Amino acid sequence: MARDDGNAESLTEFLAEVPLFRGAPDRALTIAATAVRRRVYESGTTVFQEGDKGEALYILRQGLVKLSKIDLGGHEKTLAILQPPEFFGEMALLGESTRSATALTLNEVTAYLLFNDDFRKLLSDYPSISLNLTTTLASRLRGMDDESQILSYKDAQGRVAYVLLRLYRGGVVDLEDDRALVRLTHQELASLAGTSRETVTRALKALEAEGVIETRPKEVFITDAEALAEILHGVR
Ligand code: CMP
Repeated sequence: MARDDGNAESLTEFLAEVPLFRGAPDRALTIAATAVRRRVYESGTTVFQEGDKGEALYILRQGLVKLSKIDLGGHEKTLAILQPPEFFGEMALLGESTRSATALTLNEVTAYLLFNDDFRKLLSDYPSISLNLTTTLASRLRGMDDESQILSYKDAQGRVAYVLLRLYRGGVVDLEDDRALVRLTHQELASLAGTSRETVTRALKALEAEGVIETRPKEVFITDAEALAEILHGVR
């Protein structure tokens, strides 16, 4: 991965890895590199809130961002936790509507902001960027379809297994002694699984008894991802 040493070459190298710009011509990357503005956010900063007007999309350079919504029952539902080189905040720009979710930094975050006019110009001038955007939106839609099935039909253990696997497969884990470590509280896992903290605590205990995870305060080790998938799919 390109280093963030602030020079133009490393920025275009980095942008080439962003799903929005993958395979885009060098000229498009140079234009994007000139257009973006770098911002740093402390941990726990609300980057924007559901309902805000949207002015820019965000390309994650460093750190994690949580996207969440308040559901009709007043509970927070986490839609996704994103990591570099993912991007977010394009939806409000596309429909000229408001932010569909709230973005919160989970640690110190560096992001490149691409403002609406520059974003639109890149989309209209470079079909490969438009296609990349459509591909990302389609994959998010597919993920949401899968998730709504899981959250409707699986029990608490299945839902928590699904959330842990999604984090694991999405790479939102640290590695410690070659084991995948999820650094989230039970409340944060509950918000992802669409259930209560107490239910998550019980489900984690049950998964630990199955030998597929190990828990520590605010940490879950995934010790057997394959077995976790078997539990999710009901074959174990
Ligand atoms: P926007 O509506 O501008 O602001 C919130 C952003 O969250 C949205 O654009 C998308 O980039 C992102 N987002 C919304 N829903 C999801 C989802 N299900 N998965 C990943 N990202 C999402």
